[in-house]
Formats: sequence, structure tokens, C-alpha cells
Amino acid sequence: MSHPFPHSVLDNISKPIEEARGLPNNAFIDPAFLQLENETLFRRHWVFAGRQSEIPNPGDIKMVDIADQPLLLVRGKDNAVRAFYNVCPHRGAQIVTEDRTGARVIACKYHAWTFELEGPLRARAHFNGPNKHAKADASDPNCPSLYPVVSDTWYDAIFVNLDGNAGPLKDHLDPVLRQAEGFDISQFQYTRTVEGEFDSNWKLTVENWSDVYHVFAVHPTLNKIMDADARTGMETDRNLIYCRWGYDADTLAREVLPIAQGLQGQARNTSFMGHLFPALCISFHPAAFLLWDYKPLAHDRTKVKLHIYAAGDAATNPAVQKHLDDRVEYYTGLNGEDDEVCRLMQRGRRADGYDGGRFAPYWDKGTLHLAQLVLDAVS
Ligand code: FES
Ligand SMILES: [Fe+2]
Repeated sequence: MSHPFPHSVLDNISKPIEEARGLPNNAFIDPAFLQLENETLFRRHWVFAGRQSEIPNPGDIKMVDIADQPLLLVRGKDNAVRAFYNVCPHRGAQIVTEDRTGARVIACKYHAWTFELEGPLRARAHFNGPNKHAKADASDPNCPSLYPVVSDTWYDAIFVNLDGNAGPLKDHLDPVLRQAEGFDISQFQYTRTVEGEFDSNWKLTVENWSDVYHVFAVHPTLNKIMDADARTGMETDRNLIYCRWGYDADTLAREVLPIAQGLQGQARNTSFMGHLFPALCISFHPAAFLLWDYKPLAHDRTKVKLHIYAAGDAATNPAVQKHLDDRVEYYTGLNGEDDEVCRLMQRGRRADGYDGGRFAPYWDKGTLHLAQLVLDAVS
């Protein structure tokens, strides 16, 4: 696909926010546009692929789909996490068909070629004729191995970069790491995942995550917790769209989960909300660290997995499990409230009269920034 939009669209997106228009409808309602995003945007950037804690031991294997590509996350005997395409180098069969724990090798069901957890071939049965088996031969330049995908980890998060050209993960995370100063992520342990699906394009879903404006109208419970005076629109920093909101002492005193020790500076009494392009949202709170993993399932359907990390011993302390279950229920409700309004946007964007819309300059800076990031990434 050549450039998907006429120049007028590009011009309108680059205007000052008071006059700008957003992405046109086809960016949200056309399946071909998601295909373009999968071929460009999601392949070129670091994408959150899963949690290290999902594959805690050597031989643990998890299947994931990123940008329509079937991948494997594998913990090797050396304890390192690697990513591979989920395909056998012989005839191209899907090589792993279910998540595994403690596997010793990766074996293909079709002709039983086996591979080490770290990727190289181990053996090929009957390769040279009946009962003439072949072992791996490191000196043979044609000796196959599983096809690697560039991956890296940050804390519990595993990222992949399909085209291998995204540069160091550290650079990608840099705007978040700067905001995280004073917040000690190592104090937080994984505890629960809240899963949900949205009937809306992934961009509408993450834009809505960054949209603090709608809280008063859509989220009665959050509206009570979140101090109205502390609400601001999003700021932008390269691939990061973010804001902070502060707590008063009363709100913090009502927190039923343990608050992290040694929080410094603004980490003590603010939450940080960051949408890291393309579609990982990260929030730091005094009592929780949250990773919101948004993945397109179709042009009009998005999966969210919200991974919750709790401070101190909360993940294992029996006294707070009920509070963590309540938190899951709360976020499930919040996702449901958001799904309803995201669905309205998905339906509305079928209207030919819509021209990308007018922004509310105080609130919508992040949404316009996302439109610009998307345009750059698909061009
Ligand atoms: S396709 Fe995997 S061993 Fe033949
Ligand atoms: Fe919301």
C-alpha cells in the first residue's frame, strides 16, 4: 500500500490542535489499515509480548501472536528468555501447539526434528534414510535452527521487535524510565491479570485510556477516587503520552493495599499514567504497578490484559488477597464502562460526514500525538 492518506489529511493532523483534525475513519474501520499497521508499525517498534513470570523456569514456553505473527517465548536452560517464530525450519509446520512447562527440547510433530530450547537443531530422525539419523553438526552452515526474533526484557516485561531495527529497548523505554524516577519497581510482585475485550479499534481503545476528560461522565467510582482538581490532559515525550494525578492524604490513608516503601519525590503521592507507543500502557501508583497490554484482534476488536503488581508481600499475604480480588473486580467494571464508550466511537466512525473530529485542546493533546505517531509509523 502506498501512503494510505491524501496530503490534506497529513496537513490537517500537523496543524495546531485548535484547528487540527484526527485520523480519518478508515484508520479505524478498514481491515486493510490494520494489515498495514501489522506490516509496518507493529513490526518496526518494540512490542510488549508477555511476562517473564509466565515462563518462570527453564523449558517453559508460551505461544503469542504479535502483528499477526506466531511467536514463541522460551526460557532456555541458561535461564535466558528468547523469542522465536513458531514454525519448523523443515516444512514450515507450526512447531509448538500448546504452552509448555519444563520442556527439554522443542520437537516438531510432523517429522520429529528436534531443537534445543536456545534454538539450534538437536537431531533429525531418519534424515538420511531409514534408521539413518542425523545429529546437529555445528560445522554445517546449512544446519537449521529455530528462527530468532529480537527480544529483550525490562523488569517482568518481555518485548519483541520483529524487524530487528528498533534500536535498544532501553532507548524505547527511556521516557518512561525518566518519569519512573523515585518509584522502585523492584518492590512490586506480580499478582493478577484482568482480561477483557473491547469492540473497538486498538487506537480508540488506547486513546480512551489516555483520555482523562471522560472520567466525570463515564466512571462514577473512579470519579470519586480521582481528585477532580488533579486531572489534566496528557503531555507527550516522543513515544510516550502521559500524565500524573495527585492524591490528597485522605485518599492515601484509605488505601487498603500496602504502599511501597521508600518512594521518593512525587512518586509518594501521585500516580503516573503513561501510554508507551504503540499499545502498552504503564501506570505507577503508591500501592500498585500496572501494565495494560492492548493487542488488536481485528480492526474493530481489541484484547486487553491488565497485569497487576502489588507492593511488598501483598501478592502472597493472605490478609490482602480479598482486597486484590476487589481490585480485579473494580478494573473489570472500569474496562466494561470504557468498552461501552469505545464501541460508540467505533460505530460513529462509520459516518462519512466525520472528518477526524475537533479536539478539546486542554485534554486531547495525547490523542493528536498518537495520530502523528501512527502516521509516521505507517509511512
Ligand atoms: S515440518 Fe517439522 S520436522 Fe518436518
Ligand atoms: Fe475510561
